[in-house]
Amino acid sequence: MSDTPIEKKVFSQKAGEFIEWLLGRYPDKQAALLPVLRLAEEEFGNIDDASVMLVAKTLELSPGYVWGVLTFYTHYRREGDGKYLLQVCSTLPCALRGCREIQHHLEDKLGIEAGETTEDGLFTLKKVECLGSCDTAPVVQVNEKYHENLDSEALDKLLENLRG
Ligand code: FES
Repeated sequence: MSDTPIEKKVFSQKAGEFIEWLLGRYPDKQAALLPVLRLAEEEFGNIDDASVMLVAKTLELSPGYVWGVLTFYTHYRREGDGKYLLQVCSTLPCALRGCREIQHHLEDKLGIEAGETTEDGLFTLKKVECLGSCDTAPVVQVNEKYHENLDSEALDKLLENLRG
């Protein structure tokens, strides 16, 4: 859990100004939820309970609604996620090109299963739906960057590079 008391979390002035600008571009506050969640992720490094409460308050939505939307999507960095968020696409085009092997290879190498974080806090592995790069399947997204046309060898190299 975050150390920040739920009622103490606030957006920076710059983020607040950005939210104001965003709200001018959407028909209502609810419609701005996804970009405001992204902003919270960027502002605080991940989205914890206090961020959910802050976003809910900012957009005049219920925390339960914000939580429901947040947990529907896999791509937001959540509290407890590792430094590197590895998202393995598991939708059909990637499945036909070996994404299960990719996932199992990563699980073996990292010693965790999809949905878990390594003990050193370096890696979180997630199985996700289509990442929108089907023509370069199989695909793994690491934080913001896509790694495409992967095989075991490329994965080993990727992990080696990430470990530094
Ligand atoms: S199915 Fe994997 S990127 Fe679309």
